[in-house]
Amino acid sequence: MKYAKGVSTPQNYLAAVLENAGNDLKIIEKEIPSLNKGEVLIQLHAAPLNPSDLAMLDGVYPHKKTYPFVPGLEGSGTVVASGGGFMANYMLGKRVACSANDTGDGTWAQYMKVKAGNCIPLNKDLNLDQAASAIVNPLTAVALVEIVKAKKEIGFVNTAAAGALGKMLIKLAKQEGLTCINIVRRKEQVQELQKQGAAIVLNSSEEDFYSQLKETYKKTNVKVILDAIGGEISNTLLTPAPEDATLICYASLTREMMQINPVPILRFGKTIEGFHLAYWTKRQSMVKLLRTVKKAQRLIANDILSTPVQKKVDLNEINGAIKLYKENMTAGKVLIAF
Ligand SMILES: NC(=O)c1ccc[n+]([C@@H]2O[C@H](COP(=O)([O-])OP(=O)(O)OC[C@H]3O[C@@H](n4cnc5c(N)ncnc54)[C@H](OP(=O)(O)O)[C@@H]3O)[C@@H](O)[C@H]2O)c1
Repeated sequence: MKYAKGVSTPQNYLAAVLENAGNDLKIIEKEIPSLNKGEVLIQLHAAPLNPSDLAMLDGVYPHKKTYPFVPGLEGSGTVVASGGGFMANYMLGKRVACSANDTGDGTWAQYMKVKAGNCIPLNKDLNLDQAASAIVNPLTAVALVEIVKAKKEIGFVNTAAAGALGKMLIKLAKQEGLTCINIVRRKEQVQELQKQGAAIVLNSSEEDFYSQLKETYKKTNVKVILDAIGGEISNTLLTPAPEDATLICYASLTREMMQINPVPILRFGKTIEGFHLAYWTKRQSMVKLLRTVKKAQRLIANDILSTPVQKKVDLNEINGAIKLYKENMTAGKVLIAF
């Protein structure tokens, strides 16, 4: 194990551990792990709570981890040790954004062992708080907008639009000259997005939502729907859409089966696709990925893909932080600091 210049690690570190789905997390001491070739040890600075983390805590996120494990899908920190190999040695001493391995422990701990390929070195103008949320949402925003553009479409409908990703998509669509139709579920969210400059915001809780949406499709001819919700609303979004529209399912916030009437599909050429960042990433060339990462970092620094944070808490406050985030996701991410 090779250490970064002037760095030594303690023998033990603190980590939040999930013993079983649905349990509160326990803060325990773990031993600094040994590293294999190609792996690095990151001293974590901060990690956010994301909807996929909540699904993981409840045992409804498809994963290959075995209990007990440290949750946390992304974070930021400094690479303090390398297990050897070109990539791991290259990362040594660098400030990075990082994602957790498919198996083993995640980012809600003072240290994490991870494949060097899960680290993204940071530009000088990104601070470690911003970098804690530099992977999941910024790369997704860039990828989704590229998918819309590759279809040669003029814009998209987005759901859960008052969340962090929704706010990024509003700003990115504006920059790219795309129409962005935002769907939220509360009146305050309509007002918040309008204040931030969103031109079209519809509230799915309003009685005449369906007719408002139908009218909006007619006026704009937008044919791509980014669906983070699932359940009944997927059908409400796709049915009034123009012929040949595509619904891209990228999350399932309701955790319900998507309900789709077959008629729009068999009769009007409408289609359903899926998007998952990890799946998308695996299918991109290295050059394309590097370009996407560079673009995302530039846009985070320019505030287009920045992440709103409602509170930063210590690791030992994690169970309260999860409750706070669940109660108002729209208020911004809760960051865990180590
Ligand atoms: N496929 C991928 O690779 C990928 C990548 C990144 C993100 N995502 C997904 O994108 C979604 C948004 O992520 P985010 O980071 O922006 O989340 P976030 O900042 O936590 O915001 C979540 C938003 O969703 C709303 N919401 C929660 N449950 C809802 C429901 N059942 N129906 C309608 N709205 C609901 C919340 O509104 P309230 O305040 O009213 O609860 C909030 O505005 C998540 O589902 C996430 O998993 C997927």
